[in-house]
Amino acid sequence: MTEALLFELSKPGRRGVPLPEADVPAVPIPAELCRDTLDLPEVAERDVVKHFTRLSHLNYAIDLGLYPLGSCTMKYNPRINEDAARQPGFASLHPYQPAETAQGALELLHELQGMLAEISGFDAVTLQPAAGAHGELTGILIARAYHQSRGDTARTKVIVPDSAHGTNPATAAMAGFQVVTVPSDERGNVDLARLRELAGPDTAAMMITNPNTLGLYDEGASEICAIIHAAGGLVYNDGANFNAILGVVKPGAIGFDIMHYNVHKTFSTPHGGGGPGAGPVGVKAFLAPFLPTPVVAREDGPDGPVYRLEPAPETIGKLHAFWGNFGVLVRAYTYILSNGTGLRSVSEHAVLNANYLRARLTDLYEDPLRDRRNMHEFVLSGVRQKRRGVRTLDIAKRLIDLGFYPPTIYFPLIVEEALLIEPTETESLETLDEFVAAMRQIAREAEEDPELVKRAPQHAPVKRLDEATAARRPNLRWQPAGQAEAVAAGD
Ligand SMILES: Cc1ncc(COP(=O)(O)O)c(C=O)c1O
Repeated sequence: MTEALLFELSKPGRRGVPLPEADVPAVPIPAELCRDTLDLPEVAERDVVKHFTRLSHLNYAIDLGLYPLGSCTMKYNPRINEDAARQPGFASLHPYQPAETAQGALELLHELQGMLAEISGFDAVTLQPAAGAHGELTGILIARAYHQSRGDTARTKVIVPDSAHGTNPATAAMAGFQVVTVPSDERGNVDLARLRELAGPDTAAMMITNPNTLGLYDEGASEICAIIHAAGGLVYNDGANFNAILGVVKPGAIGFDIMHYNVHKTFSTPHGGGGPGAGPVGVKAFLAPFLPTPVVAREDGPDGPVYRLEPAPETIGKLHAFWGNFGVLVRAYTYILSNGTGLRSVSEHAVLNANYLRARLTDLYEDPLRDRRNMHEFVLSGVRQKRRGVRTLDIAKRLIDLGFYPPTIYFPLIVEEALLIEPTETESLETLDEFVAAMRQIAREAEEDPELVKRAPQHAPVKRLDEATAARRPNLRWQPAGQAEAVAAGD
């Protein structure tokens, strides 16, 4: 089925909004500011509502079902977060408002800085970065500024494990460092012997995702920190997988110097399609002077606390307009407060759910890390199904037919035909069992009727896409008839 585009519903003369008569004299608009070539759809309000409602029904969403997208923590977003973010005192604030008139908002930011620091074992936090990857860049720029402040300019390399999320080496390269890859050992941990060889006077930092993208807690985490520190480098923890260890491990306490939090994952603020999000960064006290400016500070005056925006003394600069993505931060604050000390049980249930799914699937799908207990996500491999001609991509497409958003596939890169599955703590036993039933059905179909799996999805509004062309030559803009064909032909 092809959905009509709004432009194609256009009929000359139809209007969605009747404009009132002008109550000021008409003034001629300079000709250079006008154009008559702009094609705008002429549609009634009814058509617009029908059109967008119909489109929304074609979407799969976290509010419709399981979203087991490993490495992305797509958990249910409690509605209380939305209530808090919509409070007029927050939602109607203007970013240029003087700090004296925005004390409540600044108090919230200050408290959130403190909560994140407490949960993770760091001393100071910036809330400015707008996403995890943005937090990574912030953290690595802080590491660079720290070495430069000591005149230690020979540190040109950042060590990254081969299981790293792609944003880690990309960040290091973007900040001007050379990326050095350290392999994983047979248990999925960083190979410590190799790390000892690689760490040296040219090491600026090591970036490590812990728990890593195999869903494993690195058994050598403290030792990794000790090795890098002995070489004079800093250790960066990519905290995107913090959902696995809330209330259990404080990365700052075991030796990490810098960490970002994906609050739009761990602390349940809606995300997807590029944002908005927030990627606050925590640092140890000796790195606090380098934080982005401004930081929210509190001073206890005679009439109670006063909150101010202050520059950090050796700041790396500003990384986001105003105070960061404030609405996202309000949601994260609400989530942390509403869970309180129950944050630990968030992680315990996330880990339990992932281990339950894994235990129910490993008789039919290859389990590359049989000897290890996983954390909040786990990797299966579709190599057994591949022998029947069914690839992991086909398994993912068949899951769409069976009513599920597919897990992450072909990542991490070090596992052949990988499926990275993260159910999160917010799914019930019934939902997990339905997912197990779907995955078991697909494994059976791969044996008995591989073509059925390879033809999937049959019941989705969009069938198989030409993914290579979509990635290499994306065509995201509607064009009038004739022009679209010209774009597709590369003219
Ligand atoms: C391990 C890891 N690090 C970093 C990121 C980047 O986070 P963001 O998408 O918010 O930029 C992700 C996102 O999926 C991730 O899984």
